[in-house]
Amino acid sequence: MTDLPHEPAADKHGQHDHPGHGHGHHAHGPVSHGAASDWSAAYASAYEAAEPDPGKTVVSVDLEAGEVEWEFQPGHATGAWGFNGRVPGPTIEARVGDVLEVRLTNRLPEPTVIHWHGLRVPAAMDGTDMVQRPVAPGESFTYRFRLPDAGTFWYHPHMNETVQLERGLYGALVVRGENEPVLDDERVLVLDDVALDRRGEIAPPGRWIEHHDGRQGATRLVNGRQEPELTMAAGQIERWRIVNAASARYVRLSIGSRTFTILGTDGGLIDAPVTASEVLLTPADRVELAVGPFAEGEVLSVDALRYERRTVARSRKERFATLRVGPSAPSRASIPAKLREIPPLVTGPVRPTREVHLGIRGSLRHGVDFLINKEQHHRDQPVRVGELQVWDIINDTMMDHPFHLHGFFFQVLEANGEAPAFRSWEDTVNVPPKGRVRIAWIPDDRPGEWMYHCHILEHHESGMMGHFEVVR
Ligand code: C2O
Ligand code: CU
Repeated sequence: MTDLPHEPAADKHGQHDHPGHGHGHHAHGPVSHGAASDWSAAYASAYEAAEPDPGKTVVSVDLEAGEVEWEFQPGHATGAWGFNGRVPGPTIEARVGDVLEVRLTNRLPEPTVIHWHGLRVPAAMDGTDMVQRPVAPGESFTYRFRLPDAGTFWYHPHMNETVQLERGLYGALVVRGENEPVLDDERVLVLDDVALDRRGEIAPPGRWIEHHDGRQGATRLVNGRQEPELTMAAGQIERWRIVNAASARYVRLSIGSRTFTILGTDGGLIDAPVTASEVLLTPADRVELAVGPFAEGEVLSVDALRYERRTVARSRKERFATLRVGPSAPSRASIPAKLREIPPLVTGPVRPTREVHLGIRGSLRHGVDFLINKEQHHRDQPVRVGELQVWDIINDTMMDHPFHLHGFFFQVLEANGEAPAFRSWEDTVNVPPKGRVRIAWIPDDRPGEWMYHCHILEHHESGMMGHFEVVR
């Protein structure tokens, strides 16, 4: 604690900058924490250990969470919450091997924390109230960790998510590797939807159907704007990094029914490019696409195709954006036939080491409660560093759930008995109704408290989550 390179305690950043001072109440179930001093020690050593690789730098970002008047629809200001006065928050860009240092200042009327979705950070930096004391209004807290992987990630609060994310607190995080495919241009598209009431304000969380289905707002956003118009040059091929930041909406993405090339998913590039004309993004999913070339004058609708995830509300095709193709520009895009080596974690038959059941139970208060292994906020068995995990995620319900594992990438071995179309690293995977998805992962040496949960925020909140420890 005494020789930290940047003392993260009260003196440098003002208030309680490290999570050592006990913690307030805890919204989740009866989950045992380490003592406050463990938090503090784990935080301090993670902070201290975060050094950039040779030739790389420390990327410093200030994020201030606060209230903002935001125009989701042009000409109409809505009371929202944003990072640095915008929705989404700034896109953070860095390179593999850099250290990211983010100082969060909370100007919200309630506590918050930031979770780094998909990043392999030390447990103490995971930004949940399992590993840190929530940052109270007026306080600051500094996250500091090395970025080990290239890909498209995102950040969002991990408290009161059905309010904090819905109101606009989220942003993209792009980490670039050494050998990226060469495209003509690149853009980040963060998809979301918001439920506005008659006055054009964000509706408070609903009950019953919304609690069951998850909120699916009628106002569809790309980078904080309702159904914007995008333009691109004819003849070019762009890299689109797409994040689904919606509470519950499944986006079965189509770009004017044209083909595109899938380059990457949650954990960066896939092994080889795949041609497709649609791709499913569950809540929290990311995908990287090579889009184009198109001809001048074309107008394409960027849509979410009908996806029936067995909700009470019916699904239909809905537009997210319009793409207009302008005058042509030269292309230098070249996509290699092999993008990356992804060694399989499992070859041949294997037995699952664990079953994770996604379930539901009637509730007088909410209609239904969402469960893991028959309980809300399930306490799961620890896993040991270096030991192969083969988990069967079994959906005992009649609706889809996007399963998300914090802090570690997994490979999907099979979904309903079928091998996936390509090899990839994932942190979120859809588990279809009454379906079974088998994943494999190996805990690398980052001991501490971790979690998994359904990323439909209402289900997460209702307790469809598990906590477990990674032990040495
Ligand atoms: Cu986006 Cu607990 O996660
Ligand atoms: Cu769910």
